[in-house]
Amino acid sequence: SAAEKGGWDSFMDKEIHEDPAAVQRTLLGRFDKNGDVALDEVRIDEHDFKVIDKIIVIACGTAAYAGMVAKYAIEHWVRIPVEVELAHEFRYRDPILTPRTLVVAISQSGETMDTLMALRHAREQGSKVLAICNTQGASIPRESDAVLYTHAGPEVAVASTKAFVAQITAAYLLGLYLAQVKGAMFRDEIRHILDSLKDMPRKIQWVLDTQTKTIHKAAERMLNAQSFLFLGRHVGYPVALEGALKLKEIAYTFTEGFAAGELKHGPIALVDEGEPVVFIVPPERGRDVLHAKVLSGIEEVKARGAFIIAVAEKGDKDVERYADVVFWRPACPTLMSPLVDVVPLQLFAMDMAKLKGYDVDKPRNLAKSVTVE
Ligand code: G6P
Repeated sequence: SAAEKGGWDSFMDKEIHEDPAAVQRTLLGRFDKNGDVALDEVRIDEHDFKVIDKIIVIACGTAAYAGMVAKYAIEHWVRIPVEVELAHEFRYRDPILTPRTLVVAISQSGETMDTLMALRHAREQGSKVLAICNTQGASIPRESDAVLYTHAGPEVAVASTKAFVAQITAAYLLGLYLAQVKGAMFRDEIRHILDSLKDMPRKIQWVLDTQTKTIHKAAERMLNAQSFLFLGRHVGYPVALEGALKLKEIAYTFTEGFAAGELKHGPIALVDEGEPVVFIVPPERGRDVLHAKVLSGIEEVKARGAFIIAVAEKGDKDVERYADVVFWRPACPTLMSPLVDVVPLQLFAMDMAKLKGYDVDKPRNLAKSVTVE
């Protein structure tokens, strides 16, 4: 009903606008009085955490892309390898699991059968499983050793939106907790990162407040596009994959996401006059090497006549010069950028789907949670 949608004309619309709150609520109550990360509800011994020497994230769909984002952050912070594997691939390849492996099962619904079967397999092999889940008491958290709930609130639209930013937030909290327990970082370093994380709801809100018109206009302009490419590097790579997934899920447009560095190894062959290419451009400061590399990718496809849509930092003059349309993000550290960058892509997919007259909440052939293998 309209009341359930809180005044929005679709659940997807409502839920995208809940992105800031989803991050905020997931951070709530996760700190002790000293400001350290305190995951009280995670009942895994501190000792068991200390000896963890590898993380394997298992998930499907959007949750798997949240896991890919977390890999960049956790490896950087904790200095242990993080693998991300689609749950349905994981079980059947005899993965290397030890009691020192922490398996992190990410699932919005907590009922995805592929993920449930994968976590059962991990526990049988003696690994600890921690669930990152949005649904209280669902099968996946019930069968895990520990759970870290994302408090995004119920997600109704089939295409996942606010759960994605909440999953990244929860995985980041886990990573920072591990860094704390393992002494992998100085406390003030961790504190510094937490401060920027706590700042993200405000930055996401800025995107919702200022970018929707540009996004809507871009969707109108691209309505007849037959296909899209989404490209990004580093954490922008999983964001590109997620942006591509949103567009194919609800607007039924043929869309592929690639690592921007792969462009010259294949995808550039797809680019000709007018082909829409979406670039996730990393912040200018800090990681200038990556910024320059993504920029040269933009130049290359531009030279072949592509129509460039960029997600980039406010004030990025280089991007302004080449891109046909820019969705701006407020300045933030690279590792935080996925939390904002996915938002215009969610809105863009929704606008495209609505303009085409599709039901954005219930896309054809898809289910909210897939409870069969
Ligand atoms: C389905 C949904 C996706 C979701 C995926 C994983 O395919 O349509 O939106 O990302 O399942 O669901 P989960 O509940 O495990 O996060």
